[in-house]
Amino acid sequence: MFVLPMTITVDTSAGVATIAIARPQKKNALTSAMYKAMTDAITAAVADNAVRALLITGQPGVFTSGNDLEEFMQQPPASEDSPVFRFMQTLAVCDKPIVAAVSGLAVGIGVTMLLHCDLVYLSDEARLAMPFVSLGLVPEFASSLLLPQLLGRVRAAEKLLLGEAFTAIEAVECGIANAVLPAGEVLGHARRIAERFNALPPNAVRDTKRLMRSCSKDAIARAMNDEAAVFIEHLRCPEAQEALEAFLAKRKPDFSRF
Ligand code: COA
Repeated sequence: MFVLPMTITVDTSAGVATIAIARPQKKNALTSAMYKAMTDAITAAVADNAVRALLITGQPGVFTSGNDLEEFMQQPPASEDSPVFRFMQTLAVCDKPIVAAVSGLAVGIGVTMLLHCDLVYLSDEARLAMPFVSLGLVPEFASSLLLPQLLGRVRAAEKLLLGEAFTAIEAVECGIANAVLPAGEVLGHARRIAERFNALPPNAVRDTKRLMRSCSKDAIARAMNDEAAVFIEHLRCPEAQEALEAFLAKRKPDFSRF
């Protein structure tokens, strides 16, 4: 196992590259350096013939609280070359199976990531939320396309417009996740699922994943581009500034002047 800068660990064993987010003191909030480390880890796993599947996980109690909001204030992503965009593009086109093990909280991009994974396992305490609007922002990385496809438009509106959280059971019912497990079992279960790819023919797995995604590939790429432009614009706007300042000052945001 090796530890990459800024709290991403990568462990490749028994045909599975496990990428773990490990910044528990900040609820696994993701910084540019962490996105870059995860992008490099996925790229290396794709190039390594010994790796048959990737496993993405967090820490007990928290998958990730989403993008680091302090960094959003200080160094907002300004273009599609930014580490967060590169990471999501790399995840979305990864041609090996990606399994996610989520125990606890998944917020914002923490949920969006799951929409691009192939198999998703949640702990019974997992809570998923996409509070982009509360932050003066908009959905990202094709979540405005994929979530309504999975949930239907009106249930997706509860999640994306109102920012309502999903329970783990609801996430399974609407097809975001495969199964709910006791918290102590989710990582082991997801790992066993990932290891099953060792016994399967890798070329057939890769082509099946490609075919399953071929109809939606162009629409996803288009949605990602459209959302990126609006997201970057919103990040610079006073609504988002108020929301981010309020989070950092640990106060309620006040949107009454907009
Ligand atoms: N970015 C930066 N720092 C974050 C963070 C984030 N996304 N999420 C949590 N943190 C930090 C907190 O500021 C706090 O830091 P401090 O100890 O230096 O004050 C620490 O992590 C612990 O978080 P705290 O809020 O005290 O934990 P909690 O259990 O009460 O609440 C959350 C956890 C995730 C519900 C809450 O932190 C939160 O709402 N975070 C923001 C989530 C978000 O909006 N993400 C972006 C979506 S687009």
